[in-house]
Amino acid sequence: MSNTIQKNLDYKKYVVDSKLQYFKPHATKIEKTFAEEIRSSLNADLKFISPKFFYDKKGSELFEKICLLPEYYPTRTEVTILKKLQNELPSFLDDSFRIVELGSGSSVKTRLIIDIFTKLQNKIEYFPIDISEILTESSEQLINDYDNLHITGIIDTYEGGLEFLKDYDDKKNLIIFLGSSFGNFSPSDGYVFLQKIYSTMKPGDLFLIGLDLVKEKQILESAYNDSQGVTAEFNFNVLSRINAELGANFNLKNFEHYSVYHEKEQRIEMYLKSRADQSVIVPKSDLLLNLEKNELIHTEYSHKYRLSQIHNLLDDVGFELKHTWLDENKYFSLTLVSKT
Ligand code: AVJ
Repeated sequence: MSNTIQKNLDYKKYVVDSKLQYFKPHATKIEKTFAEEIRSSLNADLKFISPKFFYDKKGSELFEKICLLPEYYPTRTEVTILKKLQNELPSFLDDSFRIVELGSGSSVKTRLIIDIFTKLQNKIEYFPIDISEILTESSEQLINDYDNLHITGIIDTYEGGLEFLKDYDDKKNLIIFLGSSFGNFSPSDGYVFLQKIYSTMKPGDLFLIGLDLVKEKQILESAYNDSQGVTAEFNFNVLSRINAELGANFNLKNFEHYSVYHEKEQRIEMYLKSRADQSVIVPKSDLLLNLEKNELIHTEYSHKYRLSQIHNLLDDVGFELKHTWLDENKYFSLTLVSKT
């Protein structure tokens, strides 16, 4: 919608206290339900389940466990780089910025960004955008831990939240998108998403993106096929979720976790592989699924980038490159850009 007043009417405001409030869209937004999406994606020629469905409560917990695995280098590497930013990010900021995060960090990473702001500002504003109400739990924890933090959570899709923020006020935004979550997008969808971010930014706003880099196949494949089997459990969990929420009868033992690095496409491809010819019913999706032995259900892409590709991509969208930080092994990158 075109004007701000009208637009904010689409959201309901929940004030918890003077330091914590949420905006949530009225239930008018038309989005496909879980049941409908599963119906069409498991009916497709090449069957798939969107990775956004990994993150129910159990899936989010399993992802937190993945982040601690010895083989899963991205989280700890990004944290190392964020520690380096403590001294270096302030020169790009002033006291007129707030933090806007795509995805709500309960994690140590958000805190490292907030720590930077505590050295610059007496009152820090943090606006997490997340589709999940889990947002409220992590926000309350953050409020408890930081005296001068004010949180406005936006419970919506990234696109919806960014659009909401567009004409919200004149304060400058540092938008952060960490953890290489961008890697889930195909390059073309990713490009469109970056254009969306760019179009909702004001001149002077900043965008910080964490991206995993191309590296040896074997390092990548063990990060997505760990020896403790946590990634496998994370992958299987989406089937448990479909069983629980859509009444399906997936037998997890009839599937194998399969992940492979595709060098040409520069991506980890994750699948659930059927161990046998089998049929599964998904009642709430009104679906009878027939799978052949060795047939694959695609569950995730995790794209890896070269530094030059990151720079070209951001440049093509119109961003101005400010700085890229790397770890000593050049495993992971954090890139800061601005809209001028
Ligand atoms: C949350 C999308 C960044 O791609 O590395 C981890 C998800 N999947 N292990 C990634 C994930 C399997 C993760 N992202």
